Amino acid sequence: MNMTKAKHLRLAVLASGRGSNFLAIQKAIDEGKLDAEICILLSDKEDAPALDKAKQLGIPAVSVLPRSFYNKEAYEKEVVHQLASYDIDIVVLAGYMRLLSHVLLEAYKMRVVNIHPALLPSFTGLHAQRQALEYGVKYSGCTVHFIDEGMDTGPIILQAVVPVLDEDTEDTLTDRILAEEHRIYKEALQLIASGCMKVDGRRVMIVNDEQGVK
Ligand code: GRF
Repeated sequence: MNMTKAKHLRLAVLASGRGSNFLAIQKAIDEGKLDAEICILLSDKEDAPALDKAKQLGIPAVSVLPRSFYNKEAYEKEVVHQLASYDIDIVVLAGYMRLLSHVLLEAYKMRVVNIHPALLPSFTGLHAQRQALEYGVKYSGCTVHFIDEGMDTGPIILQAVVPVLDEDTEDTLTDRILAEEHRIYKEALQLIASGCMKVDGRRVMIVNDEQGVK
């Protein structure tokens, strides 16, 4: 996909859980802040609340269960098959709790994005907010990034900083980070939609046609 040309994005959202980022993205679309449409929501769980939320919005929602497949590659081949008929531009991981294999990554090279609830490269993996609290950092936040074969290692698109307060618990910090997740995920997707993004190795730069890098 050419990221320096504006395009109405056809999105597939992959979610394992409650789906608040999915809803925030759909809200931005409804409000005209994101030139995109969510064509399908796919979950690796049969009972993910995100599935019901998608159905209520009339968005095709399917679950593909890893345990029904021989291995991860076979599972992801089915995921790719499910997405194939929707002509998807960007695969949006929104609380999708699995590392991707080469099958999805090759099918959607540099077209899979994720949100992580910490300032990468700090606090990768699970319970990032708890890790930040236990480490004692004064600032944490969230990161939207492309997915590569590592865990939370792909090129960073946008980040937002959230202060860690003395009185914070894991829950309060998680809530404040989540509010920022909802803000920057839609903004990162709109950057892609608007054709204002240039990727040079690990560096993702925001460009505009007339002036080059802003
Ligand atoms: C978010 O905190 C996201 O950063 C992480 O998983 C959580 C998903 O929340 N990857 P939701 O399902 O979007 O509400």
